[in-house]
Amino acid sequence: MNDTGKLDAQLDKAGRLRHLLRLQGLSKSFITNLLDRAAGFQTAVGKPPARDDLLRGRTVANLFFEPSTRTRASFELAAKRLSADVLNLDVNMSSRTKGESLLDTIYTLQAMQVDVFVVRDASAGIPEYITENVIPAVSVLNAGEADVSHPTQGLLDLMTIRQAKGTLDGLTVTVIGDIAHSRVARSLSEGLAIMGNNELRLVSPEGLAADPELYPDALLTSDIDSAVTGADVVMALRIQRERIKEKSSLMTSMEYHQQYGLTEARLQLARPDAIVMHPGPMNRDVEISGPVADGPQSVVTRQVHNGVAVRMAVLAAVTEARLP
Ligand code: CP
Repeated sequence: MNDTGKLDAQLDKAGRLRHLLRLQGLSKSFITNLLDRAAGFQTAVGKPPARDDLLRGRTVANLFFEPSTRTRASFELAAKRLSADVLNLDVNMSSRTKGESLLDTIYTLQAMQVDVFVVRDASAGIPEYITENVIPAVSVLNAGEADVSHPTQGLLDLMTIRQAKGTLDGLTVTVIGDIAHSRVARSLSEGLAIMGNNELRLVSPEGLAADPELYPDALLTSDIDSAVTGADVVMALRIQRERIKEKSSLMTSMEYHQQYGLTEARLQLARPDAIVMHPGPMNRDVEISGPVADGPQSVVTRQVHNGVAVRMAVLAAVTEARLP
């Protein structure tokens, strides 16, 4: 199947969401509707969370073959708040450790009438491979795929930017860090390109730079101060040490913070109303200083809050797509 065919596999003939693999291939109106729907699932922190019966009788299985706090917890909460039955497979205690293949694990859970598989894996192509092998009644949601795609993170980042800036058009967005291994940057880039005419600046040290072919419209640079200057949005990313074989080539944490850390001094180069984002997990005083992470411009906890609402909207969308 060619790339276009694969992207089309996300939507059914009526244009409804069957699977979520990446943001590329979704339209601006489709994403706008998802974000609007997510906003409708929100209540303020400190109030009871929004609940709905939309997934009553459905079963959602979380299959995380890589560590996660935010994505796994928010998919679980999102599914429970929509009244689904939720299975969190403990991968280290599962029969994968006895040699069972990924597909046999999927077939086993499918036989138990799982409706939605939420999948995180370190290998590229795994969520899509599962879509090609499940029955038509089952949906697959990509919860983080190698360095390729993290679409619900992209959606929650778009939602956070839209809430703070009132628009997803005409913005200057600077992302700093290990772009080479970042599925977060990939999905944000896809989303920003769909939603408007935005300027994306990607800052990284030598060795962690983006592949220019993956970001044909972005500015790729190692000059952090220039890239932060005048930005509306500044996002810091951690170095993904788990994906880097030659760790000896990396700077020390202190060197990295001095040269590429998002500090209060650097943030002053951005627009005065710029927001600070980080997908988490944060390494304080490495890629972002504590006072910036906790400061008045930070929307890091807002990103987490939005993650539950976005995942509720996505779960609702794929469930409705299977209704007659
Ligand atoms: N942003 C993100 O994917 O965080 P987790 O790895 O904790 O899920």
